[in-house]
Amino acid sequence: MSELEQLRDTAPARIAAADSADALEALRVEYLGKQGSVSALLKTLGKMTPEQRQEEGPKIQSLRATVVDAIAERKAALDDAALEQQLASETLDLSLPALQRPRGSVHPVSQVMDELAEIFADMGFAVATGPEIEDDWHNFTALNMPESHPARAMHDTFYFPDESADGAQDGKRMLLRTHTSPVQVRTMMAEGAPIRIIAPGRVYRSDSDATHTPMFHQVEGLVIDKNIHLGHLKWTLETFLKAFFERDDIVLRLRPSYFPFTEPSVEVDVGFAIENGPDGKDRRVLGGSGDAPGHAWMELLGSGMVNRRVLEMSGLDPDEYQGFAFGVGVDRLAMLKYGMDDLRAFFDGDHRWLDHYGFASFDQPTLSAGVGATA
Ligand code: DAH
Repeated sequence: MSELEQLRDTAPARIAAADSADALEALRVEYLGKQGSVSALLKTLGKMTPEQRQEEGPKIQSLRATVVDAIAERKAALDDAALEQQLASETLDLSLPALQRPRGSVHPVSQVMDELAEIFADMGFAVATGPEIEDDWHNFTALNMPESHPARAMHDTFYFPDESADGAQDGKRMLLRTHTSPVQVRTMMAEGAPIRIIAPGRVYRSDSDATHTPMFHQVEGLVIDKNIHLGHLKWTLETFLKAFFERDDIVLRLRPSYFPFTEPSVEVDVGFAIENGPDGKDRRVLGGSGDAPGHAWMELLGSGMVNRRVLEMSGLDPDEYQGFAFGVGVDRLAMLKYGMDDLRAFFDGDHRWLDHYGFASFDQPTLSAGVGATA
C-alpha cells in the first residue's frame, strides 16, 4: 500500500478519535505541519514528471482536503463538548443576597431627568426622543430659522463636513443638534395631534467655561391640542417647578421675548432670595416674588406658543391646533436644586464628585416619596 493510501485509510479515524484539543493539535502538526506527512507528499509533486503530476496531484490534494475537514469537524465537536461541560458544571445561585452594597451612584443629570419624567408623567406627558446627529432642516429650518436666519449664527453649531457638492443627505447638512427643539418637529410629523411630551437629551454647542460645556442637557416640552393658550403654559410650568423644587412659594414672571419657533415668546424668570449659607457664603434660595425686599429674578427658561409656521412645516393645521413649547437646561436645573457651581465637573467622571453629588441607585424619585431624593 502506498503512503498516500495508508494515510487516506488511517488519518480520518485517528483524527475522529482525538480526545482533547492538545491531541488534535498534535495530529494536525503530524499531518499538516512543516515536517508533516501530508506536507511531505505535497512536496513530492515538484519532482514528478508532468504526467505523474497530473495523476498524483488531485489525489494528494484530496487527501489534504480530507485531513483539513476532519480536523475542523473534530475541533467543532470538542469545542461543543467543552461548552456543554462548562454549562453543566457552573451554576449561578440567583437567590444569594449581594455581599456588598453596589458601588457607584446615579449622576445628578440622570436623577434630574428621572425626576422630570416622574413629574410630567403625572400631568399626562410621555417621554419622546430624537437623534443627536440631526440635519439642519429639523434643527433650524422647520423651527422657522431658514438658511440666512441670524439665530442660526447664535448657536455655535458643530457641523459635519459636507459630503458632496449637492449634499449627500438629500441636500440636508448634518450637525450635532444644538437644542432639543427638533424633537418637537419629529414628534408632530410622526404622531400628529394631540401631543403632550417632554424630550430630555444631550445637545451640543461649541462653547466652554464654568457654566457652558460643549455637550449639555436640555428638556423640551410640547403640548399640542385644540384651544391651548398661554394660561396652560403658565400653569404647567408653575406646577412643574413647584414639584421639582419642592416648594409651594415658587413665583414666576413671564417676560416677552423672541424665539423664531414661538409666537408670542416668553422668557420665564423665577424669584429667589439671597441668603447666607452654612459656609458663610451668599446663596440663592428659590421662592417668593423677585420684587419682594431682598429678592431678585433669575432667568430660567424659554417658552411660548408654537409658531404657526412650525405647525405648518410639521404637517399640522394651525387653524385647528395650537400649542405651547418650552426648553430648559437640565444641568442648570440640577445646579440650582443641588447646589453645584461648576458645570464642567459634571462631565469629569471624578468618583469623589459623584460620591458627593450622586444618588443612591435604589432611590427612585416618586411624587409620593418626594422627587428630591436625599443624596
Ligand atoms: N431651543 C431654545 C434654546 O436652546 C430653548 C427654547 C426656547 C425651547 C423657547 C422652546 C421654546 O421650546 O419655546 O435656546
